[in-house]
Amino acid sequence: MSFPQTRLRRLRENAVLRESLVEVRLHPNDFIQPYFVVDGEEVKKAIKLMPGIYQYSIDQLLKELDSATKLGINKILLFGVLEADQKDDKASEAYNRRGIVQEAIKAIKEKFPELYVITDVCLCEYTDHGHCGILEEGNVLNDETLDLLAKTAVSHAEAGADMVAPSDMMDGRVQAIREALDEAGFSSVPIMSYAVKYASGFYGPFRQAAGTEDFKGDRKTYQMDFARNTAEALREAQADINEGADLLMVKPAGSYLDIIRVLKDSNIQVPIVAYQVSGEYGMLKAAAQVGVGDLQKMVLESLIAIKRAGASLIITYFAKQILSENWLSQK
Ligand code: PBG
Repeated sequence: MSFPQTRLRRLRENAVLRESLVEVRLHPNDFIQPYFVVDGEEVKKAIKLMPGIYQYSIDQLLKELDSATKLGINKILLFGVLEADQKDDKASEAYNRRGIVQEAIKAIKEKFPELYVITDVCLCEYTDHGHCGILEEGNVLNDETLDLLAKTAVSHAEAGADMVAPSDMMDGRVQAIREALDEAGFSSVPIMSYAVKYASGFYGPFRQAAGTEDFKGDRKTYQMDFARNTAEALREAQADINEGADLLMVKPAGSYLDIIRVLKDSNIQVPIVAYQVSGEYGMLKAAAQVGVGDLQKMVLESLIAIKRAGASLIITYFAKQILSENWLSQK
């Protein structure tokens, strides 16, 4: 049948029917809100390129989480931010049991035992050169980095982290972390691996927020080349599953919806998480600021697209704003 018998507008005409036929809905449980934690007290420092996002000292973070949890935020992703003089070539602070992330986890779990705390496991916030692993003559060493990542993950679990999320892109890190967690008695702590992580131009504001702007060169020898191929994404995903990953992440999200969909349609049967990264956040904020469009509409559209592509969870800096401004209950 074709026009005029077929009229697709028939199903769009009535608002009740339109709303009832919606296939993809956003829910507060879909979201993971990232937070940046720094040393000190009474610190709530705005991040220039990410309006509405701050670096918090632990006391201020607890205050922030008080309002966030009341709004329905139930999962967070934690990043530690250090002063330059706290960093060294071995990323010692990353696996210091009294390090900033470890202390933050303890404080958070004490005050908000129900809040699900996920930690980013990487060395770049802790190395003086800013790369995600041990550096030797300009090369990021793979195998030498694994042990430190595993130690970092265990220190997070010891502090009370519910889940760890390695974002370094070394080969074999999921296996190293899984073994170390199991050995330390944390066999029930899941690993959400940043399995498919591209060497993206969209991480700029994050690097400002995490204090990792000043590294030499690029991350192309460990993060993936976005112009390469889809098969590589599948191999990365498969490798991480074989090593014991429980959830897989695609990052960034917006420019990689095809990759999310390919993974979703593949035989990879673990939940897919998508990270709407700092540059995506910054772009949407900046676009709304200059009048390109309405922030709420653009953000919800971008997140629906990510979910429609196949993501079960979305890490987004917008999570709290969405809930605090009640965006999910408005049409
Ligand atoms: C650290 C890490 C990065 C992000 C998350 N973990 C940045 C990087 O690889 O330099 C980016 C997150 C964002 O842009 O929001 N390895």
